[in-house]
Amino acid sequence: MKVFIIGIAGGVGRRVAKQLARVGDQPGGLVRRPEQAKALASAGIRTVPGDLVAMSVGELAAVLRDYDAIVFSAGAGGKQGDAATTRVDGDGPGKLALASKRAGVRRFILVSVFPEAWRERRMNASFEHYMVQKKRAETQLVRTDLDWLIVRPSALTDAPGAGRVDLGLAKVHTEIARDDVAATIVELLRTPSLNRLILELTGGGVPICEAVGAMTVD
Ligand SMILES: NC(=O)c1ccc[n+]([C@@H]2O[C@H](COP(=O)([O-])OP(=O)(O)OC[C@H]3O[C@@H](n4cnc5c(N)ncnc54)[C@H](OP(=O)(O)O)[C@@H]3O)[C@@H](O)[C@H]2O)c1
Repeated sequence: MKVFIIGIAGGVGRRVAKQLARVGDQPGGLVRRPEQAKALASAGIRTVPGDLVAMSVGELAAVLRDYDAIVFSAGAGGKQGDAATTRVDGDGPGKLALASKRAGVRRFILVSVFPEAWRERRMNASFEHYMVQKKRAETQLVRTDLDWLIVRPSALTDAPGAGRVDLGLAKVHTEIARDDVAATIVELLRTPSLNRLILELTGGGVPICEAVGAMTVD
Protein backbone atom coordinates (compact mmCIF):
# COMPACT_ATOMS: atom_id res chain seq x y z
CA MET A 1 0.00 0.00 0.00
CA LYS A 2 1.32 3.46 -0.93
CA VAL A 3 0.36 6.08 1.66
CA PHE A 4 1.16 9.79 1.39
CA ILE A 5 1.48 11.48 4.78
CA ILE A 6 1.23 15.23 5.32
CA GLY A 7 3.07 15.83 8.59
CA ILE A 8 5.39 12.85 7.97
CA ALA A 9 8.19 14.40 10.05
CA GLY A 10 5.85 15.02 12.99
CA GLY A 11 5.13 12.89 16.04
CA VAL A 12 2.21 10.87 14.67
CA GLY A 13 3.14 11.06 10.97
CA ARG A 14 6.66 9.73 11.49
CA ARG A 15 5.33 6.80 13.51
CA VAL A 16 2.72 5.93 10.85
CA ALA A 17 5.42 6.03 8.17
CA LYS A 18 7.82 3.84 10.14
CA GLN A 19 5.16 1.29 11.04
CA LEU A 20 4.11 1.05 7.38
CA ALA A 21 7.70 0.81 6.10
CA ARG A 22 8.53 -1.97 8.59
CA VAL A 23 5.96 -4.29 7.01
CA GLY A 24 6.80 -3.47 3.40
CA ASP A 25 4.24 -0.76 2.64
CA GLN A 26 5.41 2.38 0.85
CA PRO A 27 4.89 5.56 2.85
CA GLY A 28 5.85 8.92 1.42
CA GLY A 29 5.24 12.49 2.45
CA LEU A 30 6.08 16.18 2.34
CA VAL A 31 8.97 17.55 4.37
CA ARG A 32 9.99 21.15 4.84
CA ARG A 33 13.61 20.60 5.92
CA PRO A 34 16.42 18.54 4.33
CA GLU A 35 17.47 17.01 7.65
CA GLN A 36 13.97 15.54 8.01
CA ALA A 37 14.27 13.96 4.55
CA LYS A 38 17.62 12.50 5.55
CA ALA A 39 16.33 11.06 8.84
CA LEU A 40 13.34 9.45 7.13
CA ALA A 41 15.48 8.13 4.25
CA SER A 42 17.59 6.26 6.81
CA ALA A 43 14.38 4.34 7.68
CA GLY A 44 13.76 3.66 3.97
CA ILE A 45 11.08 6.35 3.64
CA ARG A 46 11.00 8.54 0.53
CA THR A 47 9.89 12.14 0.90
CA VAL A 48 9.21 15.11 -1.34
CA PRO A 49 10.36 18.61 -0.34
CA GLY A 50 7.38 20.92 -0.02
CA ASP A 51 5.13 23.06 2.09
CA LEU A 52 1.39 22.46 2.18
CA VAL A 53 0.65 26.17 2.44
CA ALA A 54 2.99 27.27 -0.34
CA MET A 55 2.03 24.54 -2.82
CA SER A 56 -0.93 24.89 -5.18
CA VAL A 57 -3.66 22.25 -5.46
CA GLY A 58 -2.18 21.25 -8.83
CA GLU A 59 1.32 20.83 -7.37
CA LEU A 60 -0.05 18.73 -4.53
CA ALA A 61 -2.09 16.60 -6.93
CA ALA A 62 1.05 15.89 -8.96
CA VAL A 63 2.85 14.40 -5.94
CA LEU A 64 -0.21 12.42 -4.81
CA ARG A 65 -0.64 10.51 -8.08
CA ASP A 66 -0.03 6.75 -7.73
CA TYR A 67 -0.77 6.75 -4.00
CA ASP A 68 -3.53 4.56 -2.56
CA ALA A 69 -4.31 6.66 0.50
CA ILE A 70 -3.56 9.94 2.23
CA VAL A 71 -3.05 10.62 5.92
CA PHE A 72 -3.20 14.23 7.12
CA SER A 73 -1.48 14.56 10.50
CA ALA A 74 0.09 17.98 10.01
CA GLY A 75 -0.47 20.86 12.36
CA ALA A 76 1.06 24.24 13.04
CA GLY A 77 1.30 23.12 16.67
CA GLY A 78 0.52 26.54 18.08
CA LYS A 79 4.19 27.50 17.62
CA GLN A 80 3.78 29.47 14.41
CA GLY A 81 0.89 31.73 15.44
CA ASP A 82 -2.84 31.75 14.78
CA ALA A 83 -2.50 32.64 11.10
CA ALA A 84 -0.43 29.49 10.52
CA THR A 85 -3.01 27.44 12.44
CA THR A 86 -5.68 28.79 10.07
CA ARG A 87 -3.65 27.92 6.99
CA VAL A 88 -2.35 24.49 8.07
CA ASP A 89 -4.94 23.00 10.45
CA GLY A 90 -7.95 24.87 9.05
CA ASP A 91 -7.37 25.24 5.29
CA GLY A 92 -4.92 22.33 4.84
CA PRO A 93 -7.24 19.31 4.83
CA GLY A 94 -9.75 20.93 2.43
CA LYS A 95 -6.96 21.95 0.07
CA LEU A 96 -5.46 18.47 0.20
CA ALA A 97 -8.88 16.92 -0.40
CA LEU A 98 -9.17 18.94 -3.64
CA ALA A 99 -5.71 17.72 -4.67
CA SER A 100 -6.61 14.19 -3.65
CA LYS A 101 -9.73 14.23 -5.83
CA ARG A 102 -7.75 15.63 -8.74
CA ALA A 103 -5.12 12.90 -8.32
CA GLY A 104 -7.76 10.16 -8.05
CA VAL A 105 -6.81 9.15 -4.49
CA ARG A 106 -10.08 8.41 -2.71
CA ARG A 107 -8.98 7.21 0.74
CA PHE A 108 -8.25 10.14 3.09
CA ILE A 109 -7.64 9.83 6.82
CA LEU A 110 -7.63 13.08 8.78
CA VAL A 111 -6.11 13.27 12.26
CA SER A 112 -8.31 15.80 14.03
CA VAL A 113 -9.07 16.46 17.69
CA PHE A 114 -11.82 15.75 20.26
CA PRO A 115 -14.14 18.79 19.99
CA GLU A 116 -14.66 18.77 23.75
CA ALA A 117 -10.96 18.40 24.58
CA TRP A 118 -10.16 20.20 27.81
CA ARG A 119 -13.55 21.89 27.90
CA GLU A 120 -13.32 21.53 31.70
CA ARG A 121 -10.31 23.90 31.65
CA ARG A 122 -10.02 27.56 30.79
CA MET A 123 -7.86 27.56 27.65
CA ASN A 124 -6.30 30.57 25.93
CA ALA A 125 -7.55 32.24 22.76
CA SER A 126 -5.02 30.46 20.54
CA PHE A 127 -6.25 27.08 21.73
CA GLU A 128 -9.84 28.10 21.02
CA HIS A 129 -8.77 29.28 17.56
CA TYR A 130 -7.09 25.89 16.98
CA MET A 131 -10.30 24.07 17.94
CA VAL A 132 -12.36 26.18 15.55
CA GLN A 133 -9.91 25.50 12.72
CA LYS A 134 -9.90 21.75 13.37
CA LYS A 135 -13.70 21.72 13.21
CA ARG A 136 -13.67 23.79 10.02
CA ALA A 137 -11.28 21.27 8.45
CA GLU A 138 -13.51 18.35 9.42
CA THR A 139 -16.49 20.08 7.87
CA GLN A 140 -14.65 20.65 4.59
CA LEU A 141 -13.64 16.99 4.36
CA VAL A 142 -17.08 15.66 5.28
CA ARG A 143 -18.59 17.64 2.40
CA THR A 144 -16.42 15.84 -0.19
CA ASP A 145 -17.32 12.58 -1.89
CA LEU A 146 -13.97 11.03 -0.93
CA ASP A 147 -13.70 7.87 1.20
CA TRP A 148 -12.76 9.96 4.20
CA LEU A 149 -12.26 8.87 7.77
CA ILE A 150 -11.73 11.34 10.60
CA VAL A 151 -9.84 10.16 13.68
CA ARG A 152 -10.01 12.39 16.74
CA PRO A 153 -7.29 11.42 19.22
CA SER A 154 -7.28 12.66 22.79
CA ALA A 155 -4.19 14.46 24.25
CA LEU A 156 -1.07 12.93 22.69
CA THR A 157 1.88 11.60 24.70
CA ASP A 158 5.27 10.18 23.77
CA ALA A 159 4.89 7.27 26.18
CA PRO A 160 5.56 3.86 24.63
CA GLY A 161 2.53 2.41 22.90
CA ALA A 162 0.41 -0.11 24.77
CA GLY A 163 -1.08 -1.68 21.63
CA ARG A 164 -4.47 -1.16 23.26
CA VAL A 165 -6.93 1.70 22.81
CA ASP A 166 -10.51 2.82 23.24
CA LEU A 167 -12.02 3.62 19.82
CA GLY A 168 -15.59 4.56 19.03
CA LEU A 169 -18.14 7.15 17.99
CA ALA A 170 -18.07 9.13 21.26
CA LYS A 171 -15.43 8.73 23.95
CA VAL A 172 -14.28 10.56 27.05
CA HIS A 173 -11.20 12.73 26.41
CA THR A 174 -8.14 11.42 28.33
CA GLU A 175 -4.77 10.79 26.67
CA ILE A 176 -3.13 8.38 24.25
CA ALA A 177 0.40 7.54 23.11
CA ARG A 178 1.35 8.69 19.61
CA ASP A 179 2.56 5.10 18.99
CA ASP A 180 -0.99 3.85 19.56
CA VAL A 181 -2.54 6.55 17.39
CA ALA A 182 -0.15 5.59 14.59
CA ALA A 183 -0.86 1.86 14.99
CA THR A 184 -4.61 2.55 14.91
CA ILE A 185 -4.24 4.61 11.73
CA VAL A 186 -2.28 1.79 10.10
CA GLU A 187 -5.03 -0.69 11.05
CA LEU A 188 -7.68 1.71 9.71
CA LEU A 189 -5.77 2.01 6.44
CA ARG A 190 -6.09 -1.77 6.15
CA THR A 191 -9.84 -1.58 6.73
CA PRO A 192 -11.22 0.29 3.70
CA SER A 193 -14.81 -0.61 4.58
CA LEU A 194 -14.54 1.93 7.40
CA ASN A 195 -15.13 5.25 5.74
CA ARG A 196 -17.30 8.36 5.98
CA LEU A 197 -17.11 8.05 9.76
CA ILE A 198 -15.79 10.18 12.61
CA LEU A 199 -14.07 8.07 15.27
CA GLU A 200 -12.79 9.16 18.66
CA LEU A 201 -9.64 7.50 19.98
CA THR A 202 -8.19 7.48 23.44
CA GLY A 203 -6.12 5.24 25.70
CA GLY A 204 -7.87 2.03 26.66
CA GLY A 205 -7.71 -1.71 27.06
CA VAL A 206 -8.81 -3.15 23.71
CA PRO A 207 -6.16 -4.54 21.33
CA ILE A 208 -5.97 -2.22 18.32
CA CYS A 209 -7.00 -4.78 15.70
CA GLU A 210 -10.02 -5.76 17.81
CA ALA A 211 -10.95 -2.12 18.41
CA VAL A 212 -10.91 -1.42 14.66
CA GLY A 213 -12.65 -4.71 13.85
CA ALA A 214 -15.45 -3.84 16.27
CA MET A 215 -16.21 -0.70 14.24
CA THR A 216 -16.88 -2.62 11.02
CA VAL A 217 -20.45 -3.55 10.20
CA ASP A 218 -21.06 -7.05 8.75
N1 LIG B 1 -0.90 17.50 20.69
C1 LIG B 1 -2.03 16.91 21.05
O1 LIG B 1 -2.26 16.59 22.21
C2 LIG B 1 -3.06 16.63 19.98
C3 LIG B 1 -4.27 16.08 20.38
C4 LIG B 1 -5.19 15.72 19.38
C5 LIG B 1 -4.91 15.95 18.05
N2 LIG B 1 -3.70 16.51 17.69
C6 LIG B 1 -3.44 16.66 16.26
O2 LIG B 1 -2.74 15.49 15.85
C7 LIG B 1 -1.93 15.77 14.70
C8 LIG B 1 -0.54 15.21 14.92
O3 LIG B 1 0.03 15.77 16.08
P1 LIG B 1 1.62 15.66 16.33
O4 LIG B 1 1.87 15.99 17.74
O5 LIG B 1 2.12 14.42 15.70
O6 LIG B 1 2.08 16.89 15.42
P2 LIG B 1 3.56 17.49 15.24
O7 LIG B 1 4.60 16.61 15.86
O8 LIG B 1 3.49 18.92 15.66
O9 LIG B 1 3.76 17.39 13.67
C9 LIG B 1 3.08 18.21 12.79
C10 LIG B 1 3.81 18.14 11.46
O10 LIG B 1 3.11 18.99 10.55
C11 LIG B 1 4.08 19.59 9.73
N3 LIG B 1 3.64 20.83 9.10
C12 LIG B 1 3.27 21.97 9.71
N4 LIG B 1 3.02 22.93 8.80
C13 LIG B 1 3.25 22.35 7.58
C14 LIG B 1 3.19 22.83 6.25
N5 LIG B 1 2.83 24.09 5.97
N6 LIG B 1 3.51 21.98 5.24
C15 LIG B 1 3.89 20.71 5.52
N7 LIG B 1 3.98 20.19 6.75
C16 LIG B 1 3.66 21.02 7.77
C17 LIG B 1 5.24 19.87 10.65
O11 LIG B 1 6.39 20.07 9.86
P3 LIG B 1 7.76 20.71 10.46
O12 LIG B 1 8.40 19.53 11.13
O13 LIG B 1 8.44 21.19 9.25
O14 LIG B 1 7.36 21.80 11.42
C18 LIG B 1 5.26 18.62 11.52
O15 LIG B 1 6.10 17.65 10.98
C19 LIG B 1 -1.99 17.28 14.51
O16 LIG B 1 -2.91 17.55 13.48
C20 LIG B 1 -2.53 17.79 15.84
O17 LIG B 1 -3.26 18.99 15.69
C21 LIG B 1 -2.78 16.85 18.63
